[in-house]
Amino acid sequence: MDSPPPPSSNARPLILGPPSPAAPYPIFVHGQVTKGFGRGGKQLGIPTANLPESAVSQALSHIPIGVYFGWAQVLAGDHCVRPMVMSLGWNPYFKNEKRSGEVHIIHEFTDDFYGAEIRVAILGFVRAERDYESLELLVEDIRVDIEAAKVSLRREPYWRIKDDQFFISSCEKKTENRKPKTEI
Ligand SMILES: Cc1cc2nc3c(=O)[nH]c(=O)nc-3n(C[C@H](O)[C@H](O)[C@H](O)COP(=O)(O)O)c2cc1C
Repeated sequence: MDSPPPPSSNARPLILGPPSPAAPYPIFVHGQVTKGFGRGGKQLGIPTANLPESAVSQALSHIPIGVYFGWAQVLAGDHCVRPMVMSLGWNPYFKNEKRSGEVHIIHEFTDDFYGAEIRVAILGFVRAERDYESLELLVEDIRVDIEAAKVSLRREPYWRIKDDQFFISSCEKKTENRKPKTEI
């Protein structure tokens, strides 16, 4: 009898974590966006805002390396709080020598915002960091991370953290930030 094909790397659940954020989440972290190697946007088509080293070595020193999801706000432009996925670790595919925190905000920005303040609420763990045989497989996995983050954040207890006092209020594009009518 034929055995079923092995699951592909993107066959994983899109609903992450418990129905509400549980300890140690939410984890709030903020700092100035610093320059990374710049590969995120150019090579991957997935730009990331790097958290300052101090945030990674202090506020995020107690959580394991891996990929996380939550909300992020940049204090430049429209100040909207948007869904984010974050990679915390060594980026084995690129063999980095420093642990970094890189936030991909799920939105198409027209400008970069190096030096602006970024405020991040980490609400849960997505997966462990991995090495990949190709850039395409890395990008494919990040696309699933993004989908899973969007779906997972639609749950009310996760959604409401977007309005936490930690975020500086004001968002010019209120409609974009409205909760979709369909409940997951
Ligand atoms: C959500 C997300 C998940 C990621 N997962 C991995 C991973 O599993 N392994 C890896 O080597 N890099 C991973 N990366 C990191 C990318 O390699 C990283 O964004 C890339 O090194 C670009 O960084 P740079 O802009 O500082 O050059 C991930 C990035 C994001 C945003």
